[in-house]
Amino acid sequence: KKVVLAYSGGLDTSVIIPWLKENYDGCEVIAVCADIGQGDELSVVHDKALKSGASKVFIEHLTEDFLENYVWPTLKAGAVYEGKYLLGTSFARPLIAKRLVEIAKQEGADAIAHGATGKGNDQVRFELTVKALAPNIKIIAPWREWDIRSREDAIVYANKHDIPVAAGNKVYSMDRNIWHLSHEGSDLEDPWNAPKNSMYLIAKAPEDAPDKPEYVTIDFEKGIPIAVNGEKLSAVPLLEKLNEIGANNGIGITDIVENRLVGMKSRGVYENPGGAILYYAHRELEYLCLDRQTFHYKETVAVRYGELVYDGMWFSQLREALAGFVESTQETVTGTVNLKLYKGNIMPAGAKSPYSLYSHDFVTFEADDVYNQADANGFINLFGLPLKVRALMQEKTGNK
Ligand code: ARG
Ligand code: SIN
Repeated sequence: KKVVLAYSGGLDTSVIIPWLKENYDGCEVIAVCADIGQGDELSVVHDKALKSGASKVFIEHLTEDFLENYVWPTLKAGAVYEGKYLLGTSFARPLIAKRLVEIAKQEGADAIAHGATGKGNDQVRFELTVKALAPNIKIIAPWREWDIRSREDAIVYANKHDIPVAAGNKVYSMDRNIWHLSHEGSDLEDPWNAPKNSMYLIAKAPEDAPDKPEYVTIDFEKGIPIAVNGEKLSAVPLLEKLNEIGANNGIGITDIVENRLVGMKSRGVYENPGGAILYYAHRELEYLCLDRQTFHYKETVAVRYGELVYDGMWFSQLREALAGFVESTQETVTGTVNLKLYKGNIMPAGAKSPYSLYSHDFVTFEADDVYNQADANGFINLFGLPLKVRALMQEKTGNK
């Protein structure tokens, strides 16, 4: 019996190791830690997995994969959940679960286990991915089985099994990767409580940001960011650079009461400095490069795409089909955007593209020789015909 466990090095997933061995007749536990830029000391995580009783540990470096194959496609889609959340945890789960499945197959494991609770979205995202990629493998979710109900319970269990418990009382439930940091729980559980400035671990509070605006330019090629301030960068250093610039200007803090897939609402505060800049810049370029109906249609797709990602449906037919649509729209989303950052705000400061559909010749208030204003007569007559026909009917019948 072998179980592959999604391992973070935290208290919960450490406790899961002896618990699995105790409750799944002495099974072997293989710990897999996905490095996606969460900033933990990975050698410490590695050793802690062994100390907790894992037979083997995999530390998987997936940050680039994460950005190129999960974050960029979602950015290109413009997908945001409920108008605010940039999906930082949501699209990390399918990536991690995909790697778990690959390792489980390679190691001949019988089951995959994770440390997500029975009340959240993450369990759904892990398990839908496993179902999509390995329909027959067993899934173990200890939080839905065991008697541990709180951090205190987990500490008691850890002490009994000689698992090192890190000092310091973590206040919030957090999830971090190169794209974002989420905070949930504690005083945030009352939506009337404003987030405390002291909770931010990445971004400055807007009032602590510099008193002068900072300008940043971003180059895109087919919807993918490729340079910052004229400097070509690959995905990871590019996002690191924007995180630094954004954080320093208090950019990308969002606070939302969101609808979880499992029914309840939950309050979250997210730090997403680089992501906020990229979403804003990408959209500025689309204002120039997409025609009216494509731009509008894409806005609807963005909403649905965001729901699919949030709901753990990454490896679904619909998400893949929508991604195909999005890809096709990005063909001409190439160019440069200049943004002004100031105390938590992002403002446009210019955009250009070789594929811009903005035509000065047509739009100018000055004299032009490409647009015949008389054409508007016929256009308005036909476009307004349904309104006119209805008004005539109303006049005739008195039916308003
Ligand atoms: N509410 C966010 C989401 O569902 C963040 C979840 C954070 N997860 C965590 N294990 N702390 O995507
Ligand atoms: C969890 O319940 O494990 C974290 C929160 C969530 O998944 O929504």
